[in-house]
Amino acid sequence: MENFIIVKHLEDLDLESKYLAHKAKDAAAHAYAPYSKFQVGAAVLLEDGTIITGTNQENAAYPSGMCAERVALYSAIAQHPQAVISKIAVVGRRKGTKELFPATSCGPCRQVMVEFEIRQQKLFEVIMQSQQYQWIKALSAQSLLPFCFTHESLEHHEKK
Ligand code: THU
Repeated sequence: MENFIIVKHLEDLDLESKYLAHKAKDAAAHAYAPYSKFQVGAAVLLEDGTIITGTNQENAAYPSGMCAERVALYSAIAQHPQAVISKIAVVGRRKGTKELFPATSCGPCRQVMVEFEIRQQKLFEVIMQSQQYQWIKALSAQSLLPFCFTHESLEHHEKK
């Protein structure tokens, strides 16, 4: 099975993915990004239909900031500890406009997504816009981070 569905326009994705991307876009308007001006919104869809959004939260001490994806994912699981995530959408938004621009998840966010897949023992879809302005539906977070570090890596180490 292919790992990715790639389309030219958001409208070409399935209804659920489009809806979630719009939720992420609405959230992005409230991002706190005074330093980068790069507003990002993420929307997490739980299996029961609940949607939890997150936005990037920057800080004058730059590394203290947090990406939208992790804000949404951590918030979702903190509020719904038993929840199973079925999809996450990520969008970038130009401040003060409705215009979107590409925002593909950074490495640490992908790492966190993989941990969520492992702990819930179920893959989830990731929707985002590529640097080439295509919309990508990754069928799992793991497909976005091949050969990644997991709990198994730690177990191998402990056996030595
Ligand atoms: N950022 C996200 O929130 N998600 C991403 O996928 C990429 C980057 C944020 C972090 C920082 O606040 C700003 O975008 C610029 O890097």
